[in-house]
Amino acid sequence: MSQHSADPAPHSTVATVTGRRDWWRDAVIYQVYPRSFADGDGDGMGDLAGIRSRLPYLRDLGVDAVWLSPFYASPQADAGYDVADYRAVDPMFGTLLDADALIRDAHTLGLRIIVDLVPNHSSDQYDWFRRALAEGPGSPLRERYHFRAGRGENGELPPNDWESVFGGPAWTRVEDGEWYLHLFAPEQPDFNWEHPAVGDEFRSILRFWLDMGVDGFRIDVAHGLVKAAGLPDLGSHDQLKLLGNDVTPFFDQDGVHAIYRQWRTILDEYSGERVFVAEAWTPTVERTAHYVRPDELHQAFNFQYLTTEWDAGELRTVVDRTLEAMRPVGAPATWVLSNHDVTRHATRFANPPGLGTQIRTAGDRGLGLRRARAATLLMLALPGSAYVYQGEELGLPDVVDLPDEVRQDPAYFRGAGQDGFRDGCRVPIPWTREGTSYGFGTGGSWLPQPDSWAELSVEAQTGVPGSTLELYRAALAVRRAQADLGAGDAVEWLRAPEGVLAFRRGEFVCVANTGSGSVTVPMRGRVLLASGEIAESDGEAKLPADTTLWWTEATG
Ligand code: GLC
Repeated sequence: MSQHSADPAPHSTVATVTGRRDWWRDAVIYQVYPRSFADGDGDGMGDLAGIRSRLPYLRDLGVDAVWLSPFYASPQADAGYDVADYRAVDPMFGTLLDADALIRDAHTLGLRIIVDLVPNHSSDQYDWFRRALAEGPGSPLRERYHFRAGRGENGELPPNDWESVFGGPAWTRVEDGEWYLHLFAPEQPDFNWEHPAVGDEFRSILRFWLDMGVDGFRIDVAHGLVKAAGLPDLGSHDQLKLLGNDVTPFFDQDGVHAIYRQWRTILDEYSGERVFVAEAWTPTVERTAHYVRPDELHQAFNFQYLTTEWDAGELRTVVDRTLEAMRPVGAPATWVLSNHDVTRHATRFANPPGLGTQIRTAGDRGLGLRRARAATLLMLALPGSAYVYQGEELGLPDVVDLPDEVRQDPAYFRGAGQDGFRDGCRVPIPWTREGTSYGFGTGGSWLPQPDSWAELSVEAQTGVPGSTLELYRAALAVRRAQADLGAGDAVEWLRAPEGVLAFRRGEFVCVANTGSGSVTVPMRGRVLLASGEIAESDGEAKLPADTTLWWTEATG
């Protein structure tokens, strides 16, 4: 597609969704993982046609926007986060025409579409990198990546001590003896953002998708683009522990912000309210807030929240800190419990605390589901925007016992990586009770689904009072219609027994019992929703362990 000009863009006929101003400030955004949502052509792999056919489901669920993980042309060394052509759809997912049709249909249904942008690295099959390799040392194209001579007498040692997030050195040596940097898999060489061609290319890619009518971008590894000058050694032997917990020479460098300020001016040229959301693993919410200053990005995932255990005290602290950190920059807080990189929260909460975000044991499933449901009602009662990962509305657990031979997570094959077990949250979701892949498609599923998933399918839960799917539908309906829950930036904490979180937002009250016994709390008003069985009598409500209750004091 041509470069942007002042003339109407070729796709300016794509209607954007009209609606409330600042729609994104309290939006519920649903993450679709295209490989695993719905398979339209029966090859066992999800695709754009499948997603398109299921858009009415998402509208009925009650979400505002859909974020799609990458569907671009890619050799799939990291499930599409290794992009070989940023302006093309991978044939396994469809064509650009399918993307166009998907965006249009979504808009017609009142849903916004956010696409994933992967600017930290390309695929090793990206044209620039292939040519850089072929042209050899001294090629100007090598300056668009981080090529270096090695250390040691014969250059046999990597240029510095950085490690890949997926395990092993962050450097790979090529045949002519030079090394290149990859913070992730060797098939994902890092761009050199000091080179002007890289910035030009990404500004053009932004315009390409904005012209296609997308409503925003989720920026992959937004904290990684800029590396400290000279690529200094980190000097630590436990790098994985530092990731997300410290500023390093390769993560959360202040230089990234100039890039986002430029990008923001591009986005603001376009009609409709389009948004950026940062995937930035930073040490603190205060550092995260830098990414969402008024002239930068709109939102950033709240990974501090995602990594908080099911514990009233810890949750209250992270909520307060988040709201305080966002207030000075005027950005909405965001809340997220699951995504395609972490063990699903139904399984995290089924296990003892302290195991991190890659868990390989099923734990107590009943407990995990109760807590997951309670955690969802808590999240959806907080001011700001919330992210829902496909399948969590079905209460899906992680699949912890995938056979090794079906695994595809690149980190799994690099041993020491932190993220080797991400396939467990990427198993295709069940739509129906029957069928080779429970309605995911007609041709099986690229990762095997457990037999128990028939009863977790959309079909099995639809219309069933108390099912997790109906709980999500009801919660989103209440959030939207009744209490305006996402608005504002304040919660008023109420006195509550040990292990219980209680807060008021106007006439709305949320009480979450994270403790192990039931509690009785005074209640004035009408129950809106509860994540489990509660008992109500004479101005009191009794909540079992791991249950969240919403009520309103409004009459009528
Ligand atoms: C992000 C993605 C993850 C991917 C990595 C490298 O963290 O969410 O799935 O592996 O970036 O692109």
